[in-house]
Amino acid sequence: MIAQTARLRLREMTDDDLPALRRILHDPQVMVAYEGSFSDEESLAWLRRQQERYREHGFGLWAVVKRDGDEMIGQCGITRQRIEDDEVTEVGYLFQRAHWHRGYALEAATACRDWAFEETGTDAVWAKVRSTNIASMNVAIGLGMRVRRAFTTHYRGVDMPHLGFAISRAESERVRSRRALVGAAPRCGTSASR
Ligand SMILES: CC(C)(COP(=O)(O)OP(=O)(O)OC[C@H]1O[C@@H](n2cnc3c(N)ncnc32)[C@H](O)[C@@H]1OP(=O)(O)O)[C@@H](O)C(=O)NCCC(=O)NCCS
Repeated sequence: MIAQTARLRLREMTDDDLPALRRILHDPQVMVAYEGSFSDEESLAWLRRQQERYREHGFGLWAVVKRDGDEMIGQCGITRQRIEDDEVTEVGYLFQRAHWHRGYALEAATACRDWAFEETGTDAVWAKVRSTNIASMNVAIGLGMRVRRAFTTHYRGVDMPHLGFAISRAESERVRSRRALVGAAPRCGTSASR
């Protein structure tokens, strides 16, 4: 297991996850930002690329499962990505549509952001977001990221304007210590504090 949150576990994907992976990558609504759904061959190639990344780098997109189950409800993880001439450490997230709007993506991505700072020497964690992908931008903002770059990628025959969101190691430490302080402070407005 890679990480655990209040509701979720992250682990490496295996060939047994292929049916659940197809439920994500074959759904045209999930794949709008990727210019349409994937075929069986493209989904298998995607899985093999993650497995290659696990071997080569020790990380990649991982399976997200609920703590009380083992079905992959989404993928979230860390990959090396190019943004123009730079290579960056990126957090990525794609969830089955049935599991949107419950805060799972932000919960998993927060664990991945923290994992990247703890387990790799990176100074910053990025999120490359297509300029039309508002749900993804909201996850990046929830991670404490800000927009740093605007750039265009070429994928599946299309030029795609993107925004590069990022959080530095120092900013991430500030976000985490603020959260720890808020967690430790007495809660206002409870009967105990009146
Ligand atoms: C990007 C993506 C993962 C975001 O999923 P999401 O479900 O919108 O994001 P979250 O898990 O953070 O959920 C936030 C929503 O859950 C709600 N929510 C419910 N319970 C919550 C909780 N306990 N904590 C936080 N949010 C909660 C929030 O109010 C918010 O609702 P809203 O979407 O109606 O505003 C999803 O849209 C997706 O898979 N898209 C396709 C793939 C993709 O484009 N990936 C990004 C590539 S850059």
